[in-house]
Amino acid sequence: MSEQSPVKIIGNVEDFTTFPAQVKYDKQTYYIVEAPRKDDELQQYNLISSICPHAGGMVRPHLNELICPLHYWCFDLATGESTNVPGEQLDCFPLEIRDGQFAIKA
Ligand code: FES
Repeated sequence: MSEQSPVKIIGNVEDFTTFPAQVKYDKQTYYIVEAPRKDDELQQYNLISSICPHAGGMVRPHLNELICPLHYWCFDLATGESTNVPGEQLDCFPLEIRDGQFAIKA
């Protein structure tokens, strides 16, 4: 018998009308963001950590980036990849929609 991994529910999709949407999950702050897509693809979403990988600053949305106010590392709003420090990345998890809820893909 196989065991399914538990689904990690982030929240009801209908509760979020604009993105990035700040959420608390597992005692940490994240942003639900719209993932990159082509015109004919359905919109997908990512869950991106608000904790800067440099020294733990709290990134904030500004235009199409998440910016850390401590030393100004900048991250792509859709993917969490740094735009000014090559190779750096905010933790990013693709989300799926299950029964009207955002869930972390297992
Ligand atoms: S802690 Fe974020 S740039 Fe230094």
